[in-house]
Amino acid sequence: MNNLDKNKKKEFPFFKENKKLIYFDSALTSLKPKLVIDEITNFYTKLNYSNFRSVNVLSEKINIKFEEAIEKIANFLNVQKEELIFTAGATDGLNDLARVLIKRLKRNDEIILGDFEHASNFLPWIEYGKEKKIKFKYYKINEKFEIDVSDLEKKINEKTKIISIAHVFNTLGTTNNIKEIRKAINKKNKDCILVVDGAQAVGHIETNLKTLDPDCYLFSGHKMFASNGVGICYIKNNLLNKIEPFKYGGGNNIDFQKDKIIYKNVPKNFYSGTLNYPGIFSLSKAIDFIEKIGIKNIENYCNELKNYAEEKLKNFEEIKIINKNVKSSILFLEMKNIPAEDISYLLGRKNILFRSGTNCVKIKNEYFNQNKTIRLSFHIYNEKKEIDKFVNELENALKTFRKLINK
Ligand SMILES: Cc1ncc(COP(=O)(O)O)c(C=O)c1O
Repeated sequence: MNNLDKNKKKEFPFFKENKKLIYFDSALTSLKPKLVIDEITNFYTKLNYSNFRSVNVLSEKINIKFEEAIEKIANFLNVQKEELIFTAGATDGLNDLARVLIKRLKRNDEIILGDFEHASNFLPWIEYGKEKKIKFKYYKINEKFEIDVSDLEKKINEKTKIISIAHVFNTLGTTNNIKEIRKAINKKNKDCILVVDGAQAVGHIETNLKTLDPDCYLFSGHKMFASNGVGICYIKNNLLNKIEPFKYGGGNNIDFQKDKIIYKNVPKNFYSGTLNYPGIFSLSKAIDFIEKIGIKNIENYCNELKNYAEEKLKNFEEIKIINKNVKSSILFLEMKNIPAEDISYLLGRKNILFRSGTNCVKIKNEYFNQNKTIRLSFHIYNEKKEIDKFVNELENALKTFRKLINK
């Protein structure tokens, strides 16, 4: 065990206001370190301006800061800065991307999705696909709870135009083998676009996009220590040059007359409207924070907490551990006979917070009952002693239920 557990809490001002709270819901949103919060305040107190507009003392400053931020994000993902589009988050990016990619498809083209995708990586494809009568296929998962790549490969043909999948599943917590999926696509249809929803991956595991090699990769800042309302949609250069901008408006054009419009080149034709500068700068600080700790340390520490909790819970007869032995920061449980929401309510009264009941994956599957789940998701500010407290309070709550059931 490294020393993350001892030191990290004090870097999160949230715990000054919520001293007793045990927060096991980082897959929903992470807490924010002080340097990120300070960066947002700094923007409004010191800079408060937009770039790509006028030439003055503030625009000079914001141009430099913007360049630094976008370079940092690009280096972190190991891509070119010209391949990054700012969004309001994963859902926002996935909606825009689905819309513009599907616009290029033909009737009866095929898209592959799967049963374990978050609503945000499912519904936009289905909805925008309706008009074009897109045919949808769905991947299967294997015994390790990962996308079954050989099954996926069989489903790809010359009509398969897009495959959109999670890097890390928000329920099962598994990391999918993006490199193998890319190989399968290349074998069967090189023109098929691989979209990866990285919402649960960035800030938890290494996300080197050069090695993973997706065509598009999306995530939200708020799940990786940055602010709400900012996200990234990476689009590989050759594709970015072929698709239309997500939005039109101020900032994305060189000139427009009633009969003629000239847009900027990529990626600036994607920069419409005032960008979310405090969000973008907070993302840059969040990356500093992650890099200082080291992504491998974060991954190992969170996985150690998951294993610890898994070990402590394995003998509870009322609990089924769904993602047993999966390397993850997420422990996914199903309650037998006892409503998950009641457990959440009772433990909530003891200041322990986690996700319960349903989740954003609603398609019925053989692995878990969507209405009965509990998700504990850990991050670097969590500690083993918090898991001990969770287990004790859970035991107390279950005692009450056992008495009621046996009456
Ligand atoms: C896998 C996955 N994709 C997409 C999203 C949507 O993210 P956001 O709500 O930040 O847009 C989430 C959020 O939980 C997620 O877990």
